Amino acid sequence: MATHKITLTVNGAARDAQVESRLLLVHLLRESFRLTGTHIGCDTTHCGACTVLLDGQPVKSCTVLAVQADGREVETVEGLEHALLARTKEPTEQDIREAISGNLCRCTGYVNIVQAIQYAAAKMRER
Ligand code: FES
Repeated sequence: MATHKITLTVNGAARDAQVESRLLLVHLLRESFRLTGTHIGCDTTHCGACTVLLDGQPVKSCTVLAVQADGREVETVEGLEHALLARTKEPTEQDIREAISGNLCRCTGYVNIVQAIQYAAAKMRER
């Protein structure tokens, strides 16, 4: 199997890796870089548990090859303070629900998640 040397920026730090052509970005992050906050929650590309920011845009890292991240910037949950809060200091509940719409919650719904984001927004405004 052919391998490729790639260089990418992950959470602000330059990282190199030698990867197989078929390696998914989610596996590179979790297994090579030990960034296990990026989860694999399905095998149908629906859950969004693997979402990272690629050049600032949310992508499902289970649908991106590691070689496609070569030369690009990746932010994982370990490195980000919600992309929504970077652009909106006081998001409405609707803003929050739209921002998380690509992520499926399997527990009790979205009420606690929305409240957690509102709490984070308030804490960030205190800085
Ligand atoms: Fe479910 Fe990527 S692991 S969308």
